[in-house]
Amino acid sequence: MSTQPMRKVCIVGASGKLGLYMVRQALDRGYEVVGVCRERSVPKLAAFADRITIIPGPTNDREVIQKAVAGCDGVLTVLVPWGVQQYSSGTAQAVMDYAAPDARLVFSCGWHITRDGKDQYHWLFTSVIRVVSWVARAVRFAEVEDQIEACRRIFASGRRWTVVRGSDLEEGESQGLPVWRRHVGDPALKSNMTRRVDFAMFMVEALTDDSLIQEAPALVGRLTPSAQAHVGNASAPAGA
Ligand SMILES: NC(=O)c1ccc[n+]([C@@H]2O[C@H](COP(=O)([O-])OP(=O)(O)OC[C@H]3O[C@@H](n4cnc5c(N)ncnc54)[C@H](OP(=O)(O)O)[C@@H]3O)[C@@H](O)[C@H]2O)c1
Repeated sequence: MSTQPMRKVCIVGASGKLGLYMVRQALDRGYEVVGVCRERSVPKLAAFADRITIIPGPTNDREVIQKAVAGCDGVLTVLVPWGVQQYSSGTAQAVMDYAAPDARLVFSCGWHITRDGKDQYHWLFTSVIRVVSWVARAVRFAEVEDQIEACRRIFASGRRWTVVRGSDLEEGESQGLPVWRRHVGDPALKSNMTRRVDFAMFMVEALTDDSLIQEAPALVGRLTPSAQAHVGNASAPAGA
């Protein structure tokens, strides 16, 4: 439940796969939507062009973000580490600097982000992340360390944030709101799979769920075997 009304939301990274789902779901909830995406990706939002305001530009451009978040009650940010240009941290910092002080800020990332170091990762997961991060940075494709830095700044802020940590993702029909846990390693998360449409649903739902403020929920699909085994028929509250 939210203590504040949600009327206008900004979606930073609106043209990506996750972003497009969030645009649709935010519109379905009757929110006024402002979307930020790279100039070249504006056509991906064509289906919504007459229903949303599109602000083209790099998401780490502070002027773009300042304009986009003005007057918004909530900001949904797709944090991505592309290039070696502080893309994630620049984006997160701009959102935190320019969003209204009481705005709900919801960021996406993956399980590899840890808030308190209490997550328990399988050695294979850690090894893959380490190798992929090293190679991606070596070829200047992506900077996973910068996504970690972005989240470190968010965790340290006093803002009304939620950092939503996605498992591996797949396409497909919605299975409902994902199950979440505070720490990776919880048996309920073992299946490590969430429908992307449901990741988006969780992000949009978080805007109006004050119990998720200053939480970093790790998600898993509601109908996955591990969620089913640990949350029964999943009609119980999904988080713990
Ligand atoms: N993929 C997974 O399995 C997975 C797993 C766990 C968590 N996540 C998290 O889920 C979120 C969305 O990830 P996704 O994989 O589903 O991707 P996505 O929704 O397609 O998002 C990718 C985003 O990155 C932008 N982008 C792509 N190339 C770029 C570049 N060179 N420079 C700047 N921006 C660029 C895209 O914008 P354009 O439309 O302009 O290209 C889009 O906004 C991320 O926060 C990610 O950490 C993903």
